[in-house]
Amino acid sequence: VIDIRKLYAQTGMFTYDPGFMSTAACQSAITYIDGDKGELLYRGYPIEQLATKCDFMETCHLLLYGELPNEEGKKKFTRTVTMHTMVNEQMQFFLRGFRRDAHPMAIMTGLVGALSAFYHDSTDINNPEHREIAAIRLIAKMPTLVAMAYKYSAGQPYMYPKNELSYAGNFLHMMFATPCEPYTVSPVLERALDRIFILHADHEQNASTSTVRLCGSSGTNPFAAIAAGVACLWGPAHGGANEAALNMLYDIQKAGGVEKIGEFIKQVKDKNSGIKLMGFGHRVYKNYDPRAKLMQETCKEVLGELGLENDPLFKLAMALEKIALEDEYFVSRKLYPNVDFYSGIVQRAIGIPVSLFTAIFAAARTVGWIAQLNEMIGDPEYKIGRPRQLFTGSVKRDVKPLAQR
Ligand code: ACO
Repeated sequence: VIDIRKLYAQTGMFTYDPGFMSTAACQSAITYIDGDKGELLYRGYPIEQLATKCDFMETCHLLLYGELPNEEGKKKFTRTVTMHTMVNEQMQFFLRGFRRDAHPMAIMTGLVGALSAFYHDSTDINNPEHREIAAIRLIAKMPTLVAMAYKYSAGQPYMYPKNELSYAGNFLHMMFATPCEPYTVSPVLERALDRIFILHADHEQNASTSTVRLCGSSGTNPFAAIAAGVACLWGPAHGGANEAALNMLYDIQKAGGVEKIGEFIKQVKDKNSGIKLMGFGHRVYKNYDPRAKLMQETCKEVLGELGLENDPLFKLAMALEKIALEDEYFVSRKLYPNVDFYSGIVQRAIGIPVSLFTAIFAAARTVGWIAQLNEMIGDPEYKIGRPRQLFTGSVKRDVKPLAQR
């Protein structure tokens, strides 16, 4: 590994690497991806084991502190998170400023940024205690904010968190209960949502995490840095792909379903069409995304639980995947389904509106963002992020007086 900083100091040389295709911007001990093998490890633990043997609270503990908790540690951590699930009552007035039909990610960018105005006691990013309490507050409050954004768009009263429920169970309660009707949390759906949270919890230096790091490197308010991550995640090339993937499936379904897949694939392969197979491809995975496999499994469980085994959208997704994986275009480019390909079908089956998918991704990724931010700030050698550029503009020239231009 070349130490670019040393190389620059010795030679004044720097690298040009648009999109960071092959440049590491940091050192990190949190998440490891082997894109060729299709392997994902959080702190050394394979994602498959975490998704089947642990829950999201344990995963959060692991990402934040480096180790899985024991029973007592888990109870303590869960209790601490639970104590911070409510948001300041003032937040509802802020929310009221949005149009009811605003996109939930627009609302989330605003709400998370607004948290920075509430916690004057914990916003010194250089203070480790402040970093810890900010992390807990963010993990605890994100589902509350997502559910509030949903209730606001539905014109329903907000539901307060219920502390006796699990992280996922509480989110389902805040989403689907009303003051008139409690929501009975199905263990299968609760476990499915918990798995969605685990699978999305961190993914090393993706665009939104790099955004959080860069933003936080100026020493800014941690809530503001996470709001920057939310904004970046929104894009369809990143977190917005789950919403785009489901909308794509709906479009193919409307056009005629499985029989229209061939036509759709033809359009995708035509570079002038601007159409991509959403939920396919990844910068790092050049093999099957292990999260997509787990998500496909969860999809079957959830649809089975709801008696939707013959769900046409799931069948369409499976057929689309099969055809794409046998097509030379996708094979030669090593394009495989990513986590977003099946997560939308699971969320839709749970009853979550499509426009909320990316906001749920944001709630899940918050722990990764904050763990990465804290890792960076905790490193005594960290510097403000400041990319260089290759200047391609005009050479030096003189300003002419206005009348002569
Ligand atoms: N459909 C069709 N063609 C694709 C797709 C796709 N989904 N993804 C990549 N390609 C093609 C590109 O057009 C390019 O073709 P070329 O070599 O003929 O020019 C080749 O595959 C390489 O792709 P790049 O765009 O260079 O790959 P990059 O690493 O920059 O992009 C990305 C990765 C953004 C994820 C891309 O695959 C994509 O847009 N996928 C669809 C959106 C999506 O699912 N995003 C979610 C990613 S996972 C996440 O954020 C949770």
